[in-house]
Amino acid sequence: MINEIKRRRTLAIISHPDAGKTTLTEKLLLYSGAIEIAGSVVAKKHQRDTSSDWMELEKKRGISVSSTVLQFDYNEFKFNLLDTPGHRDFSEDTYRVLTAVDGVIMVIDAAKGIESQTIKLFNICKNRKIPILTFINKLDRPAKPPIELIDQLEEILGLTAFPINWPIESGESFKGLFDRLNKEVHLFQRSPGGVFKAPFTVHSITDKSFRELMSDDVYNNLTEEIQLLDHIGVDLDYNKISNGEISPVYFGSAVTNFGVELLLKGFLDYSNPPIPRKTAQGEIVPLDNPEFSAFVFKIQTNMNPMHRDRMVFARVCAGKFRRNAKVFNTRLKKEVRLAFTHSVFGNERETINEAYPGDIIGFVTNTEFKIGDTISTNEGLAFERIPRFAPEIFAYIKNRDTSKHKSFRKGLDHLIAEDIVQTFQVDAQFMNVPLLGALGSLQFEVLQYRLSDEYGVETELEVMPWSLLRWVESPVDDEFLRSKISYHGVTGTDAFKKQVLFFKSNWGFKSFKEANPEISLVDTID
Ligand code: G4P
Repeated sequence: MINEIKRRRTLAIISHPDAGKTTLTEKLLLYSGAIEIAGSVVAKKHQRDTSSDWMELEKKRGISVSSTVLQFDYNEFKFNLLDTPGHRDFSEDTYRVLTAVDGVIMVIDAAKGIESQTIKLFNICKNRKIPILTFINKLDRPAKPPIELIDQLEEILGLTAFPINWPIESGESFKGLFDRLNKEVHLFQRSPGGVFKAPFTVHSITDKSFRELMSDDVYNNLTEEIQLLDHIGVDLDYNKISNGEISPVYFGSAVTNFGVELLLKGFLDYSNPPIPRKTAQGEIVPLDNPEFSAFVFKIQTNMNPMHRDRMVFARVCAGKFRRNAKVFNTRLKKEVRLAFTHSVFGNERETINEAYPGDIIGFVTNTEFKIGDTISTNEGLAFERIPRFAPEIFAYIKNRDTSKHKSFRKGLDHLIAEDIVQTFQVDAQFMNVPLLGALGSLQFEVLQYRLSDEYGVETELEVMPWSLLRWVESPVDDEFLRSKISYHGVTGTDAFKKQVLFFKSNWGFKSFKEANPEISLVDTID
């Protein structure tokens, strides 16, 4: 049991769309040995509809990829790589997934630097104090100077960066990486299409054969940069990496496979085995708690006619999970038997019989599970709640056919209870339906689809002009808030009667903040 826990690594890759998350995922599989040849997974992506990035991997490779978690072995370790849907399938689930991992790889496009989606995902990881390894990708294309990219990590994200390796040129001339810890140069060869592992040779930086590969200017510049990094003198402090204060940085190119293995090895050096989780009664430490416990972080209603059911995904925190064992949904104080536990391979499912801390189990059940529910053999256990994240799209939903009013209300209430979208009330707007808030338009699409499919109700959305929401941390007089927000937005409340502010723009939000520094606003709430 101890060995199984220690060898688990549960992680996610965070990035802005198109930085290379899908390509890197595939290359991690290549280097772990889970696949032998990498294919042009991303090439097909343009033809894709709402299916997750990973479904494409799965269809092309015929390997065990689920749209939620991908499990593979590397050396003696077992990786659980959780999908963070981006692109069209970006939703609140993307953020919730980050509550279920113990570390992340943050992928940055070397030509673009830090982009908006990366900042948002990073902030969630930073709040959770989990290790963040940075992979600066696409060095085979013209890139920003590496020093500038490191500066961006510090200036934009406030993250202390420790470059573990350093690129040797970029674009067409990208040759390889200087490993700063072992003081050696890795020179890579491109494999056609990057389908196989990239062969490499290891040199000393003073090797004549290496020096001759570049002009004196380029070589001198490289050695100066390396010396400069040594002078900056950030300590490779394991504790600070472990709680996300320092990020080990790796450069490379997922397409050509340069630097992928160094990243994978580095992840083993600097990541944590399953970390403790908080409950009202104290922390649950995986190695000290033999009792089974897990929490629900994602619920997916399958829209595939082959499996029209609800799949609940839970992260195991402690103890060994055994299929068919009786456990409690501790919120409902209800005993449930998890018989239909699966990993999902596209349209096919494979039964999971046991799972360890760090693993993800997916199960089909009739019991009403909600996001954040605790599942345990201990009826009294409850993990801390999964926070709610500020939505960015707001709309009212309207029933097209008034004769179906009852079905509409019933369906809407039911689906809202499933946490598909969040609900709000806007002050001074007296609507008979709540305002709906989502992070990605897919959440609304799912809601409308299910209202039509399960309740026979056709609906339309009236999108509202706000794009930013903040919760007011401690209550403030309503009138006062209204007078302060003026033309920047409106005031309202969430489903738990907490005060919220809806802003029309980031600019409006910033001016409000500057003018009212005493009002504390937050973008996530428990
Ligand atoms: P995402 O999942 O983060 O959205 O990114 P994805 O891997 O789909 O990659 C987005 C695009 O960036 C793809 O190009 C992919 O080939 C390219 N890419 C990923 N990593 C690298 C890299 O290391 N170097 C270079 N040069 N490109 C990279 P695309 O134009 O969408 O498709 P394709 O036809 O070029 O494959």
